[in-house]
Amino acid sequence: ARGAAGRPDLAGRHVVVSAGGTREPLDPVRFLGNRSSGRQGYALARTAVARGARVTLVAANTALADPAGADVVRVGTAVQLREAVLKAAADADAVVMAAAVADFRPADYAQRKIKKREGREPEPVALVRNPDVLAELSAERPRPGQVVVGFAAETDDVLANGRAKLARKGCDLLVVNEVGEERTFGSDENEAVVLGADGSETPVPHGPKEALADIVWDEVVRRLSAE
Ligand code: CTP
Ligand code: CA
Repeated sequence: ARGAAGRPDLAGRHVVVSAGGTREPLDPVRFLGNRSSGRQGYALARTAVARGARVTLVAANTALADPAGADVVRVGTAVQLREAVLKAAADADAVVMAAAVADFRPADYAQRKIKKREGREPEPVALVRNPDVLAELSAERPRPGQVVVGFAAETDDVLANGRAKLARKGCDLLVVNEVGEERTFGSDENEAVVLGADGSETPVPHGPKEALADIVWDEVVRRLSAE
């Protein structure tokens, strides 16, 4: 997309996108993970490059080709993702949290592989909370006027849960997806609504992840130029 002067509308902007899913290790060979492929985040990175932005892509455990022209920072855990995102966000105009960040991590990491023992039930796995990167970014706004965007996958009461989550996180925009067994994960297509803290509600028809990404950037650009 082009701005008023015919320049790409994200030219001169630095945007940060997180993508993929964090993995929280239990022992040297096992982790708690999730099914996020990273495709939506990569689509956001590619479309932002196409619109002229400098892009930092913080990628958690993805197996996708690096988007041409983006700086890719690879991370594993939620704690590592937080560090990389906060560092890149220091001078960013917008941060889009498309990554699936684990809410919990194992309280203890076993230095050696956990073995089963004959005739014994397994030990329960104790979990602790991970930092909430989106809430932290939204509260701190390392750069004035920075636009912060979250993603949420909900299985029911999509709009009500989305509005409540937007308010709870304190971000400017929340992209809400409806998910079920056969939907969204690992697919190239998506269906969503983009909720704004200003009350805006932009439905996104079923279509490619690039189309949703472009609508997200449209909403970001609108808020950046209203600064
Ligand atoms: N998020 C984050 N840090 C976390 C968890 C989530 O930054 N520890 C971000 C995600 O990247 C996403 C948004 O918050 O952009 C919403 O994630 P979601 O899991 O839907 O939110 P939660 O508050 O964890 O709610 P729930 O209890 O429904 O999982
Ligand atoms: Ca969560």
